[in-house]
Amino acid sequence: MAKVLLINGSPHTKGCTATALEEMITVFEKEGLETELIQVGNEAVRGCIGCGTCAKRGKCVFDDIVNEIAPKFEEADALVVGSPVYYGSPNGNLLSCLDRLFYSTSFSKHMKVGAAVVSCRRGGNSASFDVLNKYFTISGMPVASSTYWNQVHGFSAEDVKKDLEGLQTMRNLARNMAFMVRAIADARDKYGLPEVEKDYFTSFPDGK
Ligand SMILES: Cc1cc2nc3c(=O)[nH]c(=O)nc-3n(C[C@H](O)[C@H](O)[C@H](O)COP(=O)(O)O)c2cc1C
Repeated sequence: MAKVLLINGSPHTKGCTATALEEMITVFEKEGLETELIQVGNEAVRGCIGCGTCAKRGKCVFDDIVNEIAPKFEEADALVVGSPVYYGSPNGNLLSCLDRLFYSTSFSKHMKVGAAVVSCRRGGNSASFDVLNKYFTISGMPVASSTYWNQVHGFSAEDVKKDLEGLQTMRNLARNMAFMVRAIADARDKYGLPEVEKDYFTSFPDGK
């Protein structure tokens, strides 16, 4: 069974971001996809220190939730990352988690479907959405979209439950993701995955 991993950056297990993600989970389950939701907002997640140890060990030098998420991400066909907006950006815990998760893992993320979901009270959703989508688009992950940018508005879960368009956006997003996961699995069987070249690593300004 295809699997969707959802990571919630919020510390609130029943908050706004959780409400948006639960709306998606209901659809995934109806569509016959397995789901797992992981909350990172209450964890002590430190940032990447760029030590490069992961290149030798195959996992992050800091043995915390990031190393627990890594094998689940490897196994998953799709990843949803959800974040509350903090000062116009995704929240710090989620960014620290994703920096280290994407940087420390060498397994292919190619053709795993990605989607970012953001929640703010008033402003900063679209800027945060853009930041989160960049993890997918550097990793060969097709990005699922919906009928609006994947956002809800609220200060509490009750507010988000009144954001009917926001919740509709989540349901449409989940259906599109489920379709993409199935379509990519079929295409992989029929055509194989596209070739990925990795011969060059060109850093500026001297081109070495
Ligand atoms: C530190 C902090 C910074 C915040 N910054 C913003 C912001 O820039 N814009 C905004 O609209 N809401 C901001 N909020 C409100 C939350 O983004 C918003 O209530 C969100 O929906 C909460 O999601 P959650 O319940 O999943 O944690 C901030 C909240 C906190 C705690």
